[in-house]
Amino acid sequence: MPSLLRNSLTKRVLRSALTAMDQRVERGVARTTRPLRTELDVLRREVDEMQQRQYALGLLLDGTARSGHRMPRPAQIDTLVRQIKDVSGDNEHARRGVVVAYRTLIAMEALAVGRVAGSTSNICGKLATVPLLSPPNGNILEIGTLYGVFASALVRMVHRAGIEPDLTIVDPLAGLQLQPGTAQNADPTGTPVREDVVRANLALGGNRAALEARIQQGFSSDPEVRAAVSDREYGVIIVDGDHSMEGVASDLEWVEQIVASGGIVVLDDCGDKAWPGVQEALDKHLATGTSRLELLGTVATSAYLRAA
Ligand SMILES: C[S@@+](CC[C@H](N)C(=O)[O-])C[C@H]1O[C@@H](n2cnc3c(N)ncnc32)[C@H](O)[C@@H]1O
Repeated sequence: MPSLLRNSLTKRVLRSALTAMDQRVERGVARTTRPLRTELDVLRREVDEMQQRQYALGLLLDGTARSGHRMPRPAQIDTLVRQIKDVSGDNEHARRGVVVAYRTLIAMEALAVGRVAGSTSNICGKLATVPLLSPPNGNILEIGTLYGVFASALVRMVHRAGIEPDLTIVDPLAGLQLQPGTAQNADPTGTPVREDVVRANLALGGNRAALEARIQQGFSSDPEVRAAVSDREYGVIIVDGDHSMEGVASDLEWVEQIVASGGIVVLDDCGDKAWPGVQEALDKHLATGTSRLELLGTVATSAYLRAA
C-alpha cells in the first residue's frame, strides 16, 4: 500500500478526485449562501448610505455653536401642538404654525451671526403661538435680545399672519450676555453680543420691521430706557432680559403699563428649573389680584398672558 501511494499515477488520480470534491463542496455552499451574502451586501450598502445622510443632517441640525440640537422627536412636536391649541384655542393651525416655526428657526440659525437662545420646543412654541393669539397690533417689544435672531424670526412669523410688524428691542448689548448673579460661560457661538451683530441678524429677517427696528441699548430697569420706548402701546411684549426674581418682577410691572388692550406678554423661561426667579416673580405678580394680565397658559417653558 505505501508503495501504491507513492506511485505517481495514483497520486495524480487522488489529487484530481480531491479537487473535484472540493469544487463540488464549494458549488454546494455557494448555492445555499449566495442569496444570504447578496442580502447582506445590500443591507450593508443601505446602512452606509443612511449613515452618510445622517452625518450630513447632523452637521445641519446638531448642537454645535448653538443652544442645543435641533432634532425634535415626534412626541415633542405633538406635545407642543397640544399646548399651543390649549393656550390659543386654535385647533386648526397649531401644527402648521409649529412646522413653519421650525423651518424658520433652522433657516435663520443656519445663516445667523450667533444663535437663538433656548430649546427647540420653547423657540418654536413662541414663534408659533404669538401669531395664533392674534395680537391687537404689530408693535413688538423684545426685552433681552442677545443676538437678535429670535426677534428677526418673530417678525417674519407675525408678518405671515397678516400683521405688519414694528420692532423695538431693549438690551445692554454689552459684548456678552449679562445675567445678574450667574457666572456666564463663553457663548457656544464665540460671537460678541453687540448692536452690529443684532443688525446683521435683523437684516436676515428681510422685511421693513427688521431692517428699521429700533434698538434701545440699556437695561429695562433704567428709567431713561423706559421713557425712550414707552411711546406706544405694544401688541406683543417678549420678556427675556434679566431672569432674576427682582428683574422679572420689575419688568412685569413696567410692561403692564405699555401693553395694548388685548396685547400679549410672553414670559420666557417660566417654569425652567435653571431660572426659578421667573416663575416666582410671575406667581407673585398675579397673586396681587390687581394685574391687568391674565395667564392664558404655558407652552414649553414660556408663559403667555393677555392684557385686559
Ligand atoms: C436669554 S438672552 C435673550 C435671548 C433672546 N431673546 C433669544 O430668544 O435668543 C437674555 C438677554 O437679556 C440681556 N439682559 C440682561 N439683563 C437685562 C435687562 N435688565 N434689560 C434688558 N436686557 C437684559 C442679556 O444681556 C441677554 O442679551
